[in-house]
Amino acid sequence: MKKLSKQSFPSLRMRRLRSTDNIRRLVRETKLAPENLIQPIFLSDGKNKKEKISSMPDIFRLSIDHALKEIKKLTTVGIIAIALFPKIAASKKTLNAEEAYKPDGLVQTSIKKIKDKFPDLLVISDVALDPYTSHGQDGIIDKKGYILNDDTNNILVKQALSHAESGSDIIAPSDMMDGRIKLIRKELEKNQFYNTKILSYSAKYSSSYYGPFRDAIGSLKALGKSDKKTYQMDYSNRNEAIREIDLDLREGADLVMVKPAIPNLDIISDLKETFKVPILAYHVSGEYFMIKSAAKKNVFNERDLVIETLTSIKRAGASSIITYYAKEAAKWMN
Ligand code: PBG
Repeated sequence: MKKLSKQSFPSLRMRRLRSTDNIRRLVRETKLAPENLIQPIFLSDGKNKKEKISSMPDIFRLSIDHALKEIKKLTTVGIIAIALFPKIAASKKTLNAEEAYKPDGLVQTSIKKIKDKFPDLLVISDVALDPYTSHGQDGIIDKKGYILNDDTNNILVKQALSHAESGSDIIAPSDMMDGRIKLIRKELEKNQFYNTKILSYSAKYSSSYYGPFRDAIGSLKALGKSDKKTYQMDYSNRNEAIREIDLDLREGADLVMVKPAIPNLDIISDLKETFKVPILAYHVSGEYFMIKSAAKKNVFNERDLVIETLTSIKRAGASSIITYYAKEAAKWMN
């Protein structure tokens, strides 16, 4: 090391370990890698379709042929897991979401095609009814619009089994009904899907950050002015997240999720400290949109900002992150 000009005061200098790139790398506590990033994919019916999503710049709804091409690209940059979300035609949406568990449904057939071509890729499939209900809620409603927990669970179990039968690696209930993890686990065991994992969206807050996603899967219009506050968590609560995760783990979840990510870093950190289990975080559509749209105005370096954001989520305690930036960030890291 070079001798520097004379200074007096401290001999304990924190800046010593920041003084060169290599020393910073040597002591770095958190390192983000492509395998920590999970890319969500929006699926649509039909062939040769690649539709823009106005609320989500640079993200498309893909028919399965395009999705397979996109997945090829993802694997090339080191992505090992994807999460699937369907946009179902309005004509197939019903009060009781029958389309959700059809063996020849969009998600079920897509999982088969994806696993045929990419057997090692981890496919995460979302279990919830919002893409399939005419009212856009994640569950079945009564006359007053209240979401019926147990009736919804019966359908979620069928949906989960249909995903497992199609070859899904990780079933991800994002609906926030009580008791569904236990019922889904029981059904998977009964049908000998012993290694099918359950990723529970355990601490899922009722959040304005989901707006662009609802537009992407077409539930925004269906939902109208109603909200999801009777089942998704109140963002004012911290202790409640610990109870939710505790329950889901005891019911048989293998992995748990916190969502949205950046507004809830304290929750991720609490949960990691408390449970020592793999926590995933969902950097959701609104979080993506805010960065993407600002980046398009060149107010900051997109690449640096995204890597900083995702690294902070990992530092808080997330093992992996579902993010619409997965592909781009993986490319930047390569
Ligand atoms: C609902 C679901 C939502 C997301 C994934 N699954 C949001 C909602 O409650 O409407 C949000 C994902 C995102 O915003 O990126 N089952």
